[in-house]
Amino acid sequence: RTPIAVLISGNGSNLQALIDAQPHSHYDIQLVISNRPNVKGLDRAKSAGIETLVLDHKAYDSREAFDLAMIDALDAKQVQVVILAGFMRILTSAFTHHFLGRMLNIHPSLLPKYPGLDTHQRALEAGDSEHGLSIHFVTAELDGGPVILQAKVTIEQNDSVETLRQKIHTLEHQTYPLVADWLASGTLTLEDNKVRFKGELLTAPLDF
Ligand code: GAR
Repeated sequence: RTPIAVLISGNGSNLQALIDAQPHSHYDIQLVISNRPNVKGLDRAKSAGIETLVLDHKAYDSREAFDLAMIDALDAKQVQVVILAGFMRILTSAFTHHFLGRMLNIHPSLLPKYPGLDTHQRALEAGDSEHGLSIHFVTAELDGGPVILQAKVTIEQNDSVETLRQKIHTLEHQTYPLVADWLASGTLTLEDNKVRFKGELLTAPLDF
């Protein structure tokens, strides 16, 4: 099985979904890194017997120094695939280059709509009729790498930031372990900034 690491900053419910799906997947979570101490995601990892590491970004002089410390820790564990799961730090191009084609992010919007923060609020304020999540390869561009899969929800009259967050979280937990498994098994690849699924070029994101 492919050694992977999961990077978190908080709650870690997506990490939990990845842990729960691990027994019937091609990945093996070797390490969980958090840039924040004392977050719930670290407890989830420890409960599953997974090694954890806190690298507090505030202890580093620069983004470069922080990212180099992460690369050292990941390479030391021979991590092949990195899964960002609510990791709320911008990564340097040194880091994204090191893991190009080997790193995924999940983002709570239908990219290219709403990169960055407050995606549910922004979708509501725009009066959108649908919203969703995107799972994408990570490149140097923030929330900008090639999208692999999207899952959509209809925005209803009475939806709020909280109801949208819940609906999208549920879909995240169903989809992220699946896509992580595809990357770990080699079903999913990135070539010339294009996604291949089972060897075939993806012309549009997969619909969940
Ligand atoms: C998830 O909804 C994920 O899509 C989002 O953070 C949440 C983490 O939840 N990620 C981003 O906004 C990245 N730009 P979790 O800690 O419970 O997995």
